[in-house]
Amino acid sequence: MYKTAIITLSDSAVSGGRADESGPAIAAALPVDSYTLHSTHVLPDDAEKLKALLEHLCDAEKVDLILTTGGTGFSKRDVTPEATLAVAERNAPGIAEAIRAMSMQYTKRAMLSRGVSVIRGETLIINLPGSPKAVRECMSFIMDSVGHGLDILKGNARECGR
Ligand code: MTE
Repeated sequence: MYKTAIITLSDSAVSGGRADESGPAIAAALPVDSYTLHSTHVLPDDAEKLKALLEHLCDAEKVDLILTTGGTGFSKRDVTPEATLAVAERNAPGIAEAIRAMSMQYTKRAMLSRGVSVIRGETLIINLPGSPKAVRECMSFIMDSVGHGLDILKGNARECGR
């Protein structure tokens, strides 16, 4: 079972202006047979807070998978990709590339999501866009390959078997 943490980046969810629907949408889309929900977090769009939380979840909590939602767009407050890259040890760009390519079939505005996917130690971190709709679309598309990636990262599978 892979320990999973979910982080919602949203100024308005923190201030109480809008309920967080995207974090729960990620939790609902986690395959129950392979993932346990370790923790959920709602943070403002603040790079320092996000960096500190990512480091803690990776290094102290030894979480296997961190999924973030929000803060990937062009607003000056959108700093999720920068904070994620700041804690990264290795780039894993294919997941973010696949998310954008797949999402273009739903909306051309998917090209505006700057989300990244990286590895720190034995933790995989993936930025998802902010809307609950986008989160559902992305989760159903990526989780099969993410599972295989985690198997390899953790040494649970050495070969692709094909
Ligand atoms: N991806 C999917 N699959 N579905 C969507 O509806 N919306 C896009 C994009 N990615 C969308 C999507 C839009 S409108 C924007 S502006 C960007 O994600 C950035 O979103 P964020 O700032 O909420 O992270």
